[in-house]
Amino acid sequence: MKKESRVIHQPSVDLPEGNESLIGPVYRSVKFSFPSIRAAMTPEARQEGFDYSRDANPTTRQLEKLCAELQDRDDAICVSTGMAAIWLALIGNLNAGDRIVFFVESYRPTRTMVRERLPHFGIEHTMLSIHDHDAMAETFAREDTKLLVFEAPTNPMLQVPDLDAILELARANGVTTVLDNTFGGLHNHGDYPVDLFAHSLTKYASGHGDVMGGVVVGDKQRIASLKPWAVNMGATLDSDTAYLILRGLRTYFLRFERHCESALRIAEYLQGRPEVERVFYPALESDPGHALASRQMNGCGGVLSFTLACGREQAWAFVDALELFATVSSVGSTESLVAPVKLYFGRDLSEAEADSAGITDGTVRLSVGLEHTEDLIADLEQAFADTFG
Ligand SMILES: Cc1ncc(COP(=O)(O)O)c(C=O)c1O
Repeated sequence: MKKESRVIHQPSVDLPEGNESLIGPVYRSVKFSFPSIRAAMTPEARQEGFDYSRDANPTTRQLEKLCAELQDRDDAICVSTGMAAIWLALIGNLNAGDRIVFFVESYRPTRTMVRERLPHFGIEHTMLSIHDHDAMAETFAREDTKLLVFEAPTNPMLQVPDLDAILELARANGVTTVLDNTFGGLHNHGDYPVDLFAHSLTKYASGHGDVMGGVVVGDKQRIASLKPWAVNMGATLDSDTAYLILRGLRTYFLRFERHCESALRIAEYLQGRPEVERVFYPALESDPGHALASRQMNGCGGVLSFTLACGREQAWAFVDALELFATVSSVGSTESLVAPVKLYFGRDLSEAEADSAGITDGTVRLSVGLEHTEDLIADLEQAFADTFG
C-alpha cells in the first residue's frame, strides 16, 4: 500500500483476548487488566499486552506504528514533545565521558541541551559547521566521539546536509547518528542509513497547531534499548493527543504538498524584492542546497528564511507590520507564522557564530501556512510598503 493510502488506512492494534481497557475508546484508560495474574504473565501478554499507559497505550501504539512505517523503519516511541524525543535519543545513547557532535546551524534548544545541560552528565561536545566535512572526519575519528545530532534541513537557516558524505563518515567511525527530521518530515530521508530519527509531531504531523508530541523512530533493536529510558523518564504521549496526531496525519501529504507549493511561490516573490538580500529555501534553483535537496528530499517544507537589507529595528518593524503572519516561533501548522531569527533562534550565539550560521539582524523566518498564497503575498507586499516606503 502506498503511504498516501496508509495514512488513511492506518495500521490496527489488536488487544490480546481478555486484555480490556477499563475506560473505552480512544483508549483513555491509564490501566489495562487481564483476567488473572497468570494470564498477565504469559509471554504474549507481556510482549503485546497493555498494563499501564506510561509503559504503552494502544492509541499511542497505533501512532508509533504509523510513524515507523512513514519513516521506513520498524519501530518508534512517542513522547510528549519534540524536545523530549531529542533528549531520549541522546541520553539513551550517551555515557559520561562521551563526546557529542552538533552543528552551529542547529535549532537553539538542541544547542542549549548539548552545551548547557549534557555537561551536567559529564558529556562533552564539539560544535562544527554542517558543511565542514574535514572537521567532521577529524572529530568523528576521536575515540570519545559517540554521537552526531543534526537536522535536515536546519532550523532556522534551511541548510541542507550532504547525507551521503556525513553518514558515511559517521558509520566509518562508529558514530551513532540522530537526525532531527522535523523540517524534512516523516516521509523524507527514510532511505538513508540514519540510526535514529527524532521528530516534533507538534509541527507537520499534527499540523493544526493545537497539540504537542514527539517521536523517536529506528530499527527494533535501537528502539527496544531506548524503551526503558522512555518509560522511566515518563515523557509519555497521552492517548487523546496521539489520537489528534493520528487524525492530523490523515491529511499530512496534502498539507505538506500545499506548504511546499506556497513556500516556493513566496520564496520566488521575495527573491524579486529590492529590500531582500538573500532567500534561504532549498527548493529555489539558486539556493546552494538545491542540488542536494533535489536528490535527498521529496518536498522542502513550508519554512523559509530571508535577509532584509536593513538593521534590527527596521526588520522588527517589518515583522510587526505583517497581519496574516503571527509572530511566534513554531512551524508547520495551518496558520502562517513569522519570527526574527536572531532574537528567537540565535540569542545564545556569539556574533562570530551567528555570522557563520548566516544570521544577521535583518534575517526573518517564515512558516508558510495553508492560507491562499495570494493573501500571504499581499500581506508581505503591504508590510514592505509600510516599512520601507
Ligand atoms: C527542528 C525542531 N526540532 C525540535 C523542535 C522541538 O519540538 P517541540 O516544540 O515539539 O518540543 C522544534 C520546534 O520548533 C524544531 O523546529
